[in-house]
This record gives sequence, C-alpha cells and structure tokens, in this order.
Amino acid sequence: MSGYTPELLELIKKTDATRSARVERARKGEHFPALTMEQRQEWLKKYHPDFKSEGRRKVKVGPNKGLELPEEVSTLLEAKSRLDTSCVDLNRTDYSADVLVIGAGGAGSAAALAAQEAGLNVIMTTKLRHGDSNTVMAEGGIQGADQEGDSPYYHYLDVIGGGHFSNDPALVAALTNDAPLIIRWLESLGMMYDKKPDGRMLVRHGGGTSRKRMHSAGDMTGAEIMRVLRDEVRNRAEKIKVLEFTPAVEALLDDKGRAAGAVVYNLETKEYYNIRANAVIIATGGNGRLHIQGFPTTNHYGATADGVVMAYRAGVKLKDMESTQYHPTGAIYPEQNVGLLITEKVRGLGAQILNAEGEQFCFPLEPRDVESACIIRECADIKKGVVTPTGRPGVWLDSPMIEMLHGEGTVRKELPAKYIQFKRYGIDISKSPMLIYPTLHYQNGGILIDEWARTTVEGLYAAGEVTGGVHGKNRLMGNSLLDVLVFGRRAGIHAIELACSRKDSGKVTLKHVDKFNKEVDAAGIKGGIVSPILLPDYAPDHVRARQRE
Ligand code: FUM
Repeated sequence: MSGYTPELLELIKKTDATRSARVERARKGEHFPALTMEQRQEWLKKYHPDFKSEGRRKVKVGPNKGLELPEEVSTLLEAKSRLDTSCVDLNRTDYSADVLVIGAGGAGSAAALAAQEAGLNVIMTTKLRHGDSNTVMAEGGIQGADQEGDSPYYHYLDVIGGGHFSNDPALVAALTNDAPLIIRWLESLGMMYDKKPDGRMLVRHGGGTSRKRMHSAGDMTGAEIMRVLRDEVRNRAEKIKVLEFTPAVEALLDDKGRAAGAVVYNLETKEYYNIRANAVIIATGGNGRLHIQGFPTTNHYGATADGVVMAYRAGVKLKDMESTQYHPTGAIYPEQNVGLLITEKVRGLGAQILNAEGEQFCFPLEPRDVESACIIRECADIKKGVVTPTGRPGVWLDSPMIEMLHGEGTVRKELPAKYIQFKRYGIDISKSPMLIYPTLHYQNGGILIDEWARTTVEGLYAAGEVTGGVHGKNRLMGNSLLDVLVFGRRAGIHAIELACSRKDSGKVTLKHVDKFNKEVDAAGIKGGIVSPILLPDYAPDHVRARQRE
C-alpha cells in the first residue's frame, strides 16, 4: 500500500505522464533554461524570505547596533547573559589547556586535531556528544577541485558567483585552495568516498557549479566524515580531552582584552566550570533551530547560535548575519518528515522539480537561494503547487527519473538514507516522486574572521557555520563540509603559533559581559530571555506554564 493519499496518487499520474519525454530530453542534454542574472535578482527580491520586511528588526546593542537582522537573531543578541558573573570565582581554574575548542562537530574536531599536531594540550568542550552536529547530518557531498579539467580557480569563481559577489575574496581563496588537500587528508584518515570501478573518485555537479567536484559517501557524507574525525580524536585521547554535555556560556578575556578561556556549564550536574587557555576556537555551528521566518529546519537540535552570542558579547562584529539559507528541497510529506533535508544530490543525479501539472518550471541546479525563490513563486503566485493533506504548499521532486537515467537500483545505491527515510512511511522514492518545499538549512553569515580564522579579539578564533564571509549571502552545496575542515584546520594551526608565543597570562575577567548587560539595560530592553539559549524550547505553552508554577 502506498503512503500517499488517493488524491496525491491521482496527481502523481501527471508527473508519470510527462516523465518519458523529460528523460528523453535530458539524455540529449536539453535542459530547462537557467534564469538570467536580471531575473535571478528580481525573483530573489520578490520571493526569497530574506527579502521580506516582516520578521526583521534593527538590533539595539553591541558591535552591529543598528543593523537589521531576523527578529529571532536580534532577540538573542539583545538578551542578557545566563551567567550571574558575581557568582563566578575567577581565581578558580577547573581545567586548563593550551587551546580550548568550543564545539565538537566537524570544525571543532578539525581544529582540535590540527592544534594537537604540534603536541599541544587541547580541551574540546561540547553541548551534546562529540559529533552531534550539523556535520554528521550532512548528506550530499564535499566540494574540492581535484579532478582533471578543474582547478581551485574555477571553484573560486563558482563560490563567488553563488554568493552573488558578496563573499570575502580572501576567505574564498583559502577555502578553494585548501580543498584538494582536505579531500586527501580525509582519505588518509580512512574516509570511504564513492569511487568508480577503476578506483577514481566519483564526482557530481551541485547547484551553481561549473565542474563536477562533489565528492560523496552515498547520501551520508557528513556521517562518514564525522566517523573518521571522531576516531582520530579518540586515537589522541591523551592530548585531546573531550568534555561532553558541557556547553560554553561565556568567553573569558584577560585584562588586556585577549581570549583567556571560557566559562562552561555542565548540563548534568548544573555546575559552572572555568577553563583557562591561551587560544580559544569557537566552532559551535549555526542558528537553524531559531526557525527564522517560521520555517521548519534540517538542523541539528543544538543549532542555537551560542558561539555568535558569546563572540558578540566579547566585542566581535558579525558579517552577513541578515542572510539565511533555505534549502530548496525540504520534505513536506509525510508530516513526520517535514523540514528534513532531501539532498541536492537527488538533483545532481538528474531529478527534476515539477509543479502539480507535472511540468518543469525551473532549472533544477540554480544556486540554492534562486531555486528556493522559484519554488515559492510557483506555489504562491503561479498557483501550480501541490497542497498536502495538512495544508502545506509544495512541488514534486521526480526521483524515479534517476532510475531511468542511470539504471535500476541507482536510487537505493546512491541515496540509501533517503530511500529508507521514505520507505518507512510506505513511499518508494525509486518509483514515486517526493513532495518538497524550501526548509531552513544554513546560517550564511556569522562571526567576522580573516583567512586564518582569527577574530578581532587576540587569541579568539572561529570556524565553520558560526562564521560569516566565506559564502557571502548564499552558500553552494558541498562547501559547508569543506568550510568546517578548512577553517577548523587553519584555526588550529594558527592557534599553535599563538599559544606557544604567549608568555604572560593576564588576569581573567568577565567585565565584557557586565558591560554588555549594562548596555542592554540602558537600551531599555526587557526581552525576558537569557542567552545563549543552549537548547531550543519546543514545549507547548501549557507545559511551559506548568513548569513556571
Ligand atoms: O543537499 C545537500 O546534500 C546539502 C549539502 C550542503 O548543504 O552542503
């Protein structure tokens, strides 16, 4: 029995009816035309959620005061610290290390490994368990220009074009030049890439790429990367101490304004600890769990922008924080799958996006923001979307055509996780299309860094999704797994230099937090929340009310 309702099965017949002709055209290399540059700009402005005036407001405090940000981000940045600084004994040191890494996903693990390479002692502290992160959930692949006919030069141009020329060129150069090295490094750690029968890498296109450079491990590329990183950290357990369920809540600075460690909170014992270190690397990931503009999300439970909040209070500016990525293909049916990622690899394998009539209405591999705008337009303005039984708008992603293009069994082989995710609900995606709509996927902006992942505070580094500038206002597929490893590694390498060269260790302070709290009071802000929030609150109102009693 199919997991689709009879009404949806009836609509699917329209996609079945157009499939053979579409596959025939695809085989001949005939594609739906991509939008012109002018159309892209016009449609983005009209349909992309970033351009909506509702749900945004100017942040009233801190280094970016006056900048218009999503409401949820402004609220978080304007909140007071969850730490009562008067209760913190700054003379006490509970742990110390040469380098403190905050966050234990891809960026944190790469930073810890790079810093340890020089023999330094590293502490990695994390909110949940080592590896619980957006990295482990990443599906489609990692970009790297290591194939014949490609080069970091073309990769650079693609990244800059995808970001609509808003990226920081030095960061893009670092990203794309280091990429081949990162691909090889992962393989040396034991990563099992998808390969051709002759042993060469199997690479594919992602949206907005001029060359095939997407390296994958099925549709569980992030899990495979995290597996080898975590193993390697464990192999070096004597030098890398991992504190799990212990999120950082504030950065410690010294009396010269340099990074000096962090205050962390043990979620199990509910105690605060002071960790001292000469170099501090923030790698806490993004803000997907803020559900900006009310969108569902592909993100990990811990994605609550903690690192952004800590760095902001320490005086670091944010870049492009107004920009959010909505992945074009989030599941909208069945209801249990809503918001979950359907990897861009599905379109990389040739699947097309279709409206309720079974017609193509956009080039399937536009840059993500453009693709999302096309889908929103088709549903909102053209009124040719499909509506799910719970009233969600969406369009079809025609996965069955993958079997026709590449042979029977390709869906199960190349997309095993997606296959199971839908099969569980009676939908065989090698035979039936999926219903999709954009879902909140990525924090495009974040902490301002340079090409060595340095922030403007000496000794404070940031790497991965928590940062801004690498991708500008729109990231291309496969550049996030790359970003976490390139800049995690760079932060670790530079932290070695700093940790070894710093002779004096100043008196630690939390004065920056007190100063920030005063600024919040002076601005008359009474938000009623404290931040970092650490864990998103999904309790219904009546449950929350009971908790307060
Ligand atoms: O579609 C995807 O597999 C997502 C990849 C990414 O965000 O880089």
